[in-house]
Amino acid sequence: MSKVIAMGCDHGGPEFKNELKAYLEGLGNTVIDCGIQPGEAVDYPEKAFEVASKVVSGEAELGILVCGTGIGMSMAANKVKGIRAAACSEVYSAKLTRIHNNANILCLGARVIGIETAKLMVEEFVNAEFEGGRHQRRVDLITKIEQENSL
Ligand code: RB5
Repeated sequence: MSKVIAMGCDHGGPEFKNELKAYLEGLGNTVIDCGIQPGEAVDYPEKAFEVASKVVSGEAELGILVCGTGIGMSMAANKVKGIRAAACSEVYSAKLTRIHNNANILCLGARVIGIETAKLMVEEFVNAEFEGGRHQRRVDLITKIEQENSL
């Protein structure tokens, strides 16, 4: 099923992001490319916020963020209310984080994962659907923490 996906990266992985963008488009998805491009540089929290904002607003159904490790992007994106960003480095987790956690952003490390593995990861992430049921209760508990425990 084709989806609208917001993508962004820092200088840790513009080529990696562009290759994944082309792959997802080749599968029939629409990609909103938030940059950056090779030769540019940006602090990863800025791109994480830009992509997260598009997901929370509904402009994009899902987001994909790329930095050197995927970790900084996930930390920043998870500060945005309504975002469940997962930093993954293999296919099983990338698929299950949609099915069980209803993750809406996948974060990838361009210096950690090979591009062919990353292609399979984004494909599984985008095609998988949240299972709901017992998992809905757990995701609701994550949201409860987000809403009730801001210090
Ligand atoms: C940038 O050099 C690097 O720190 C960043 O891409 C990322 O790995 C942070 O988590």
